[in-house]
Amino acid sequence: MKKKKIVLGITGSIAAFKTPEIVRILKKKGFDVACVLTPAASQFVTPFVLSALSGEKAVSDMFDPDAAHISHLKMAEEADLFLIAPASAATLARCAQGIAEDMVSVVYLATKAPVLMAPAMHDTMWNHPATQKNVEILKERGAKFVGPIEGDLADGSSGPGRMSDVNEIVRMAERIVS
Ligand SMILES: Cc1cc2nc3c(=O)[nH]c(=O)nc-3n(C[C@H](O)[C@H](O)[C@H](O)COP(=O)(O)O)c2cc1C
Repeated sequence: MKKKKIVLGITGSIAAFKTPEIVRILKKKGFDVACVLTPAASQFVTPFVLSALSGEKAVSDMFDPDAAHISHLKMAEEADLFLIAPASAATLARCAQGIAEDMVSVVYLATKAPVLMAPAMHDTMWNHPATQKNVEILKERGAKFVGPIEGDLADGSSGPGRMSDVNEIVRMAERIVS
């Protein structure tokens, strides 16, 4: 039987360092996984690590000549789920407004697969009316959300904005795909 494919979109949050673990768990559970990153995300986690764990080239630079064979449209079409984890405030805004300017927002716009987003940001950014409006728009258009949760944030403060636990994200992803 053909394996289900999860395309993982990674954006510029400090929580991106947890994504290799998401890839590892999804692979262990028998999913095919392919990663796309925003340029900001690749400051937090390397495409090399994600490629090694997923077995597929992780693409960050849309115009990378070595990735020209990996069409964002093909990736969007092959996905059984597009999981964006962590989802930054900027990416939520881009997706809500239809601004397709990096691999993550392009795949979001191009895919017909279900979309699951795991936001991660400081609580001030999460609570901002602009972010809340973008989340409302994305939910209206069918995107599902997991988290964010209350907890320790990167600057040592605490509040809603922490990315959900990786196992919870994987559980939600599995539920949607099956
Ligand atoms: C150390 C550091 C941590 C950051 N953490 C977050 C974060 O958790 N969530 C967020 O929305 N933005 C965070 N940012 C800001 C984003 O990286 C920035 O808005 C970037 O433009 C996001 O781009 P992207 O959505 O294309 O990945 C952080 C920036 C820095 C320097």
